[in-house]
Amino acid sequence: MSIRKVPFFNYPFLFKSRQEKFTEIFTDVCSRGAYILQKDCLEFEQGLAEFAGTKYAVGMANGTDAIWIGLMAAGIQKDDEIIFASHTYIATASSIVFAGAKPIPADCGKDHMLDPESVRKMITKKTKMILPTQVNGRCCDMDALREIANEYGLSIFEDAAQGLGAKFKGEGVGTFDLGGTISFYPAKNLGSFGDAGGFVTNNEEMYEKVKLMRDHGRNDDGEFVMWGFNSRIDNLQAAILNYKLTYYQEEIERRREIATLYQNLLSGISELHLPPAPNSDSRYYDVYQNYELEAENRDGLKKYLADNGVGTLIQWSGQPVHGITSLGFSGTGCPYTDKMFEKCLMIPMNTSLSNEDVAYVAEKISNFYKNK
Ligand SMILES: Cc1ncc(COP(=O)(O)O)c(C=O)c1O
Repeated sequence: MSIRKVPFFNYPFLFKSRQEKFTEIFTDVCSRGAYILQKDCLEFEQGLAEFAGTKYAVGMANGTDAIWIGLMAAGIQKDDEIIFASHTYIATASSIVFAGAKPIPADCGKDHMLDPESVRKMITKKTKMILPTQVNGRCCDMDALREIANEYGLSIFEDAAQGLGAKFKGEGVGTFDLGGTISFYPAKNLGSFGDAGGFVTNNEEMYEKVKLMRDHGRNDDGEFVMWGFNSRIDNLQAAILNYKLTYYQEEIERRREIATLYQNLLSGISELHLPPAPNSDSRYYDVYQNYELEAENRDGLKKYLADNGVGTLIQWSGQPVHGITSLGFSGTGCPYTDKMFEKCLMIPMNTSLSNEDVAYVAEKISNFYKNK
């Protein structure tokens, strides 16, 4: 069989998939000279809130800004401790640091989500907040996290950079307490043509503050009413994303179809631990930002797949946050995450994939273990 090229992510496809429509939007926005905070931004914010099932949404410059501005809006103070998942992007922890607080990493469980039992162990008198990452397009067990938050009087603020559309017991990301932050980085489920981010919430006070802070603390009358920054979403990106929202649910369904195909084709391989399949637990509705499995001889498999044209990625450059000792983390306290990072691998998961691509990836993985 000849080698088939299946890149981990197909960046040109992002544009080429609907090139004509995107060009039309570009021409329209630019011809109107509508570059910053114009009607397209407002329309996108309304569409985003509607999709997320929240009362409010704010378009921002990127997902990282959304976290640290959100934390400041939540009133986080110097020396507060915030418990977050070690299995996340450094942006989660750096946002906590730049908001003035101390990031406390916690372990993940078998589904790679923040483990509530580990969160419990990390609580001290200084703990103020739990910051779960809705990683890989799945929600954490929000019942368990809310129970802990209620018991200790903590707030919950979600890093939902990877989670737009994911649900737990029918509730979407951003609805569990103070709100959630979204990334529209190009490779994200809802990807823009550059950097962009957002914040979704049902909390009016958080909404008002984040909206002011992303535009220099300036209100709709142009008065400066609080300290702020420039973290506005580009109006052009907002217009593109607003259009992409119209078919985002179809794209989620396609990702779930691909996850089902992988599940059917790979579940018999004993050397693999697969992510939860769609519909395997009725509490969860996953949107498969990533398909992150655990594999025996992970590095051998990665190389074999690369030799056969298949792109893969180890998330966060292979480093869980608690292991980044150069930034002051201890490297301890997250045993499952440690083990998981020796085995975790993301295989292609995006809407450019054909069923044949998926079958090819699965066949190569299967061959690798057969020929061992
Ligand atoms: C879990 C997580 N948090 C935060 C971010 C930061 O988002 P952005 O790259 O839009 O700043 C990302 C995306 O890269 C992410 O995956």
